[in-house]
Amino acid sequence: EKGGYASFMLKEIAEQPKAVADTLLGRIDAEGRLSLDEVRISPSELREADKVVIVACGTAFHAGLIAKYAIEHWTRIPCEVELASEFRYRDPILDPRTLVIAISQSGETMDTLMALRHAREQGAKVLAICNTNGSTIPRESDAVLYTHAGPEVAVASTKAFLTQLVACYLVALYLGQSRGTKWGDEVRAVVRDLSRIAGAVEEVLTTMEPVRELARSLKDKKTVLFLGRHVGYPVALEGALKLKELAYMHAEGFAAGELKHGPIALIEEDLPVVVVVPSPRGRSVLHDKIVSNIQEIRARGARTIVIAEEGDEAVAPYADHLIRVPVTPTLLQPLVATVPLQVFACELATARGNEVDQPRNLAKSVTVE
Ligand code: M6R
Repeated sequence: EKGGYASFMLKEIAEQPKAVADTLLGRIDAEGRLSLDEVRISPSELREADKVVIVACGTAFHAGLIAKYAIEHWTRIPCEVELASEFRYRDPILDPRTLVIAISQSGETMDTLMALRHAREQGAKVLAICNTNGSTIPRESDAVLYTHAGPEVAVASTKAFLTQLVACYLVALYLGQSRGTKWGDEVRAVVRDLSRIAGAVEEVLTTMEPVRELARSLKDKKTVLFLGRHVGYPVALEGALKLKELAYMHAEGFAAGELKHGPIALIEEDLPVVVVVPSPRGRSVLHDKIVSNIQEIRARGARTIVIAEEGDEAVAPYADHLIRVPVTPTLLQPLVATVPLQVFACELATARGNEVDQPRNLAKSVTVE
C-alpha cells in the first residue's frame, strides 16, 4: 500500500501535486466564488464577519499562520491565529460576527475540538477545514471545506498541510469576494496562479536529490536553525517541527528580523541554518533584509542552506547550499518552499535510523487534551 515507496511519508510527499490539484478542483470560479461542502451558516453571516480567528495545532497551526497573511491582505478583515490548546483558557473575545476557522487534518484533535466548542458557546460561527469526511470537528462546525489530500497515514503531516494552505487561500478569496472587495483583477490573477501551483510543486519534487544528499551529510549535527520572514516565517517553523518530530534533533524556527534580538548569539562555526528567502519581486525590501541576515550569519561561521526562487542571483554568493524553488507570487510561496523541508527532515531521519512513519512518542491524531 506504500505504492513502491520506502515509507508512507515519501509516498505522501510525492502525492502533493495531486492533493493540491484535487483540493482546487471544481471549488472556485474565475471570479473567486467558492463552493463549500457543507454550509449551516447563512451567506450574510459569513459576509458580515468582522473578525477571523484561526485555531489549530502543530502543522495545521502553521497553515493558519500563513492564512493570516492572505486573509488580511485580500479581505482586510482582521485575523488572529491561536494555538487551539491555549485558546479557551484566555477568555477570548468572540461574538456572532466572529468567524472561527478550525483547521485539522484528522478532525479529531481534542484541543481543536474544545476550542471550537468554546467558540460556538460564545455565539461565534465556525468553519472547519478538514481532511477527514464526517469526523467530529466538521460535524460540530457551522460550515465545512474539505481538503482532498486523501488519507494521510504518516504521523508527520505533509500533503494535508499543502491542501490546508490551498483551502485557506480559497476561503480568503471567498471572503474577499463575498464582501465585494474591489479587486476583480487581483482575484482572477490569484485564481490563475493557484491553478498553476500543482505544476510548481511537481517541479520542486523533481529537483530533490541534492537536498537528500545534504540531509544525509548533516546526520550527526545536534541543532539546525530555520529562518524566514513574512509567509516564510511559518515555513521556517514548519521545517523545524518536521525535523524535531522525525529526526529527534533540536531545531528552531525564527523570524529572521528577530535574529538581532537574541538568536544570533546561537550562531557558531558550521551550524546549519536554513533560510527561506522571499521573492525578490514584490516584497523586495524583505528580500534585501534577508540577504543581509544571510551575510551576517555566514560571517559568524554558519553553514547557510538557502531556499530561494529561480533566478534570484543576489543570494547565491552567500549560500553554502542553494535550493531553488519555482517563481510563485509571495503569498503562495509556502506551497513550494515547504516541500524541500519535508524531504530534508525525512531523509535526515532515515539517515539517523529513525522510523519516519511512526516517530517515537507521537500519534497520528491526538484525541486527548
Ligand atoms: O489532525 P490535526 O491536523 O488536527 O493534527 C494537528 C497536529 O497534531 C499535527 O499537525 C501534528 O503537529 C503533526 N504530527 C505534524 O507533522
